[in-house]
Amino acid sequence: MDLGVRKSTIDRHIYGHFAEHLGRCIYGGIWVGEDSPIPNTNGLRNDVVAALRAMKIPNLRWPGGCFADTYHWLDGVGPREKRPSMVNTHWGGVTENNHFGTHEFLELCERIGAEPYICGNLGSGTVQEMKDWVDYITFAGRSPMADLRKANGREEPWSLTYFGVGNENWGCGGSMTAEFYTDQYRRYATYVRNANRDIYKIAGGANVADYHWTEVLMRDATRLMDGMSIHYYTRVAKDWNQKGSATEFDEAEWFSVLENALYMDELVTKHGAIMDRYDPEKRVGMVVDEWGTWFSVEPGTNPRFLYQQNSIRDALVAGIHLNIFNNHSDRVRMANLAQTVNVLQSVILTEGERMVLTPTYHVFDMFKVHQGATLLPVLMDGGEYCLQDKSIPRISASASVDAAGAVHLSLCNLSHDAPAEVDALIRGCTAARVTGTVLTAETIQAHNTFDDPDHVRPVVFEGARLDGERLTATLPPRSVTVLELV
Ligand code: AHR
Repeated sequence: MDLGVRKSTIDRHIYGHFAEHLGRCIYGGIWVGEDSPIPNTNGLRNDVVAALRAMKIPNLRWPGGCFADTYHWLDGVGPREKRPSMVNTHWGGVTENNHFGTHEFLELCERIGAEPYICGNLGSGTVQEMKDWVDYITFAGRSPMADLRKANGREEPWSLTYFGVGNENWGCGGSMTAEFYTDQYRRYATYVRNANRDIYKIAGGANVADYHWTEVLMRDATRLMDGMSIHYYTRVAKDWNQKGSATEFDEAEWFSVLENALYMDELVTKHGAIMDRYDPEKRVGMVVDEWGTWFSVEPGTNPRFLYQQNSIRDALVAGIHLNIFNNHSDRVRMANLAQTVNVLQSVILTEGERMVLTPTYHVFDMFKVHQGATLLPVLMDGGEYCLQDKSIPRISASASVDAAGAVHLSLCNLSHDAPAEVDALIRGCTAARVTGTVLTAETIQAHNTFDDPDHVRPVVFEGARLDGERLTATLPPRSVTVLELV
C-alpha cells in the first residue's frame, strides 16, 4: 500500500440498503402503526430507526424489488383508513393495506438520515403514473399533484435523489427482452424529472451475468441514465433449489458461500468492461442495488417471506462485498444490501417488540469509516485458503484515507479454522499508532438470537503492530477486522 497513490472516492452510497413490502420487512420490522404497544414515533419503530441512524445508512431503496412493479403509489397516500388494499401477489398473496406509503417512507428517510431511492413501476404502471409520483414528491409550486400532496399534509416538497426506472424487468418486472426494456426505459426515463432536472436515474440492469442486457442498455440508453443496476445473490450453490440453511452448515458450505460471494468481483469487472466501452469517462455509475445471501427460510416460517438468520458467515460475505465495491469505486457508485429488516441478509431482526442486530449490521457499522474516503489500492498476497481441491484467496481487503488523514484497512480472514498473518509495507506512512476492531466467533455457525443478542459482536482488536512503514497483524480465523492508523 502506498499513501502517495490515491484512487477514486468511495461513494458513501455503496453502503446503501433496500426495504421491500415483503414478509416482515416493512410491516412489523419498520412500521408498526401509531397504535402499536411497540415504542414508535408516528408508526415507525423507535429501536429500528435509532439503529439505522447509528449505522450511518446513506440511502434506502423502496418499495421493491418485485413489489415495485406491482405498486400503484396513489393507493398509498391520503388518510390511512381510506387507502385501498391490494394483494401482494409476488410475496405470499397477503393483503397489503397500503398504510406504509410515500409519506411514511420519506419520513423514515428523514429520521434515519438517508437519501430516498424510489423504484418506479415500469412493469405494470403507466408513464403518467411514474411522472405524477415524481411531481407529487418534488414540485414546490401549484400543480394537481403538488396540491394533492399539500392536501395530504405535506406543504414542502421532499428532495428525491435517486429514482429507479423499473426492477428486474427481465423477470418479475415484465419478462421483457433487453431490447424491449431499453426502449421502455428511454420512454419512461424521459418523464422522470423534477424542476432542477437533477434526479439520478437508474436503469434496471442485468440478472447476474447477462452481459447482453448490459450491452444493449448501454449501447442504446447511456445518455438517458445516471446509473445502471445489477443484481446478484450469494447462495450455497448455483442451483436455486439448493439454497442451504443460514445456520446449519459444514465447512464445505462455508467455503462455497464465500467462493460464491467472491464472484461479485468478476461480475463487476465484466459488466464494468462493457460500460467502459460506451462510457469511458465513467459518468454512469454501476448500482448493485440487490446483493446479499439468499438461504432457505427459517423452519416454520412462510416460504415467501424470506426470513433467514444471519451468522458470522454472513458477516464475511458482507465484508467481501464491501471490499469489492470499495476497490471498484471508480465505477460502483451505489449498492444496496437485500434487505434491511427480517428479509434475506438483514442487518436487523425483530420479533414483536424485540430487536437484534445481526453480524452483518456490525460489519456495516465497522466499515462506515470508508464512506466518502479516498481509496488506497492494496496489493495483497495473503495466500490461498484451500478446501479439498478448491482454493480461494485467504484474505479480502480494502483501504482508504479519510479527510482527516486517518487510514482505514478492512481485512477479512476467510479461513474457517486458521489464523492469517498480515505483513504489510505502507509506503509514506507516518501514523503513530494502529488500533482496531474485530468481529469473530467461536464457530462458523455463530449468530445472534433474541435471547442472546450480543453473542457475535465487535470487540477491540489488539493483534496489530505498527513499526514505521511496516504493519503486522494476526487475524483470527473467520473474522472481519477494521484497523485505523493515525
Ligand atoms: O430481494 C428479494 C427479491 O429478489 C426482489 O424483490 C427482486 O428484485 C429479486 O429477485
